[in-house]
Amino acid sequence: MLVLGIETSCDETAAALVEDGVRVRANVVGTQVEHHRPYGGVVPEIAARAHLELLLPVLDRTLVEGGATYADVEGVAVTVGPGLVGALLVGVAAAKSLALARGVPLIGVNHLEGHVYAVQLEYGILEPPIVALVVSGGHTSLVLLDEEGTFTTLGATVDDAAGEAFDKIARFLGLDYPGGPEIDRMARDGDPAAIAFPRALLGQEGYDFSLSGLKTAVVRELRRRQSAGEEISVPDVAASFQEAIVDVQVRKTVAAARDHDVEQVTIVGGVAANSRLRARMSEACGQAGLRLLTPSPALCTDNGAMIAAAGWNRLAAGERSALDIGADPNLALAAPSAVRP
Ligand code: KG4
Ligand code: ZN
Repeated sequence: MLVLGIETSCDETAAALVEDGVRVRANVVGTQVEHHRPYGGVVPEIAARAHLELLLPVLDRTLVEGGATYADVEGVAVTVGPGLVGALLVGVAAAKSLALARGVPLIGVNHLEGHVYAVQLEYGILEPPIVALVVSGGHTSLVLLDEEGTFTTLGATVDDAAGEAFDKIARFLGLDYPGGPEIDRMARDGDPAAIAFPRALLGQEGYDFSLSGLKTAVVRELRRRQSAGEEISVPDVAASFQEAIVDVQVRKTVAAARDHDVEQVTIVGGVAANSRLRARMSEACGQAGLRLLTPSPALCTDNGAMIAAAGWNRLAAGERSALDIGADPNLALAAPSAVRP
């Protein structure tokens, strides 16, 4: 079954054609980074307007690259939440129109579920159970996908998302937007042990994360050094900040897998492109005897292929969404989905 996946939950206008949930025929991402760069973060109104401009050209390119026409599309999958409501609505309206016009099934997909199913595009059909660390600009959660295909959120950030922390600290350090890749690059020349930043909630039970204290600690330490006239090494700050985030994420992920008797782990979402997180997670999983599945960075950041993969799973199970589905900016992962059969 050839599924067209549409993703417009944040600042990437993305579409893809995926065959049987695993084979990517085209995966086109129209990035809006330049639209948001002057503001150092995503501006919701600008994102929604840019989706309107970009979506049709992105869909056209997806069909051309996939060697297909709309007549070949057998199902349409679209992100219905969580995300920015104005941005989501652009994709949802397009998906509903296409499904109605072509008379093919429509399926609404949870964005985080999409991130997890990105794994399927590189490793073949997912065989749960699997513990997934979903880390992006808007989300930081540890979820368990069980044998029945049900998601349980084991823990989540109680304040900022990891990507948000990367972007804010990067801006504070005078680095470019988006900040995650900049800090990742800068940290390669720094000492991760140079500054002992706090590891929030590490010693505590449960799988929640907290990042706002770390952000404050970085800002306070830099101001202290500045006023004391001490030299500041940006690579050292970047490496130490990154290490504090990675440390907690790796340990909590491995603990979650061990506590739930699960042998497979994945890291997904934009921050999963982080080279230090990938290296440390790989090392820790190796030591704990866990299998780590890591989609390539291009499939970690927002894309339409992951939505098509997750949507295909539901369509293949007979699920359908009504043509009047809406967007839910706060859609919870634990809920079966916003899908109303
Ligand atoms: O999943 P994504 O593309 O969009 C959301 O759903 O948010 O994630 C974007 C986030 C941004 O905050 C960006 O700075 C971060 O992922 N990111 C990274 C890296 N590449 C992207 N963070 C750390 N290291 C990276 N290499
Ligand atoms: Zn995302």
